[in-house]
Amino acid sequence: MKTRILTTGMYVPPKVVTNQDLEKLMDTSDEWIQQRSGIKERRWIQPGETTLSMATAAAKQALERANLKADDIDMIIFGCLVSDYIFPGTGCLLQRELGFTRTIPALDIRNQCSGFLYALKVADALIQAKQYKRILIVASEIHSTTLDLSTKGRDISVLFGDGAGAMIVEACQDNENHIIDTVIHSDGQHAECLSLQKPSANDFPRINPNTAPGDSIFPHMDGKLVFKNAVTRMNEVMIELLERNKINAGDIDFVVAHQANMRINQMVLKGLEIPFEKTHHTLDRYGNTTMATIPITFDEALLEGKVKRGDLIAFVAFGAGFTWGASLIRY
Ligand code: UT7
Repeated sequence: MKTRILTTGMYVPPKVVTNQDLEKLMDTSDEWIQQRSGIKERRWIQPGETTLSMATAAAKQALERANLKADDIDMIIFGCLVSDYIFPGTGCLLQRELGFTRTIPALDIRNQCSGFLYALKVADALIQAKQYKRILIVASEIHSTTLDLSTKGRDISVLFGDGAGAMIVEACQDNENHIIDTVIHSDGQHAECLSLQKPSANDFPRINPNTAPGDSIFPHMDGKLVFKNAVTRMNEVMIELLERNKINAGDIDFVVAHQANMRINQMVLKGLEIPFEKTHHTLDRYGNTTMATIPITFDEALLEGKVKRGDLIAFVAFGAGFTWGASLIRY
């Protein structure tokens, strides 16, 4: 039994926030943001939009494109950085929202920017083990409400955006078009170097109305360390994946790389000697949507005809944890 990608879906909020809009909130410039990251604008939710509402929109699009109903799905794997509730996980909320008339497992994973590859690995393993036939993977990320929009938080706040991506994978006997292999890694050594630590279960009392929350309610990042590790690990994991499947980088038709920084992706592809034209970017318009970047970018690449059935494609990502991974797929 193998696993193939059936359909994808995506959703980004309609509200566009340009670099010029950020100039009004903090000491930054369109020139700095574009030069250092490649980002021109991002999307932010407006009141009423939630992790769940974006997840539902992306999931429904994937279901409609596959001509399926919710009940045709055997399992949900959901991931995000900051969930609507601390518990239960949004996977259960999504199960309710999509209108299932039967109970299915809804698994929430927390693997940050590499989350989509972790989800794909789990889905592929469960399908190969004949546990489930069709799995819906959804990533939905809200960053805009967690960011420090003052100059103090500018190194991170200009990078992230809101959005959701979905993918349906299913069992197939096809020896041609299927997920060939996925490699995932983590190294907790630098866990705090890209983190959002509060509110935490370790605080006594957890919420104290008499104490100002402080800066740790905002994400923190050691940008240079993350950058360096991202380039090294993404390159390493691609080589590992290619070597263990005896495939040359030159045979890859298309790469969908995590959308954190255009310079990171240029360096990774250059290191692998894969031409930059063999990829697609959404970073310029949506910023870094963490776990959602791969399904969103793949969805757009498909719609724009940059990827077609039969192509040999790779997904590659790196993020907080640190976590990283890559996937090789005959689409
Ligand atoms: O999803 C995975 C996680 N994220 C990533 O992979 C991101 C990895 N890191 C990066 O992309 C880059 O490190 C950044 C884009 C965050 C920063 O680029 P950099 O070239 O490493 O810049 P820097 O942090 O060394 O900052 C250079 C200068 C500093 O000023 P001084 O000390 O040279 O005077 C910063 O204070 O730029 C300043 N700066 C800004 N200036 C304008 C930092 N953020 C901003 C900003 N606008 N938004």
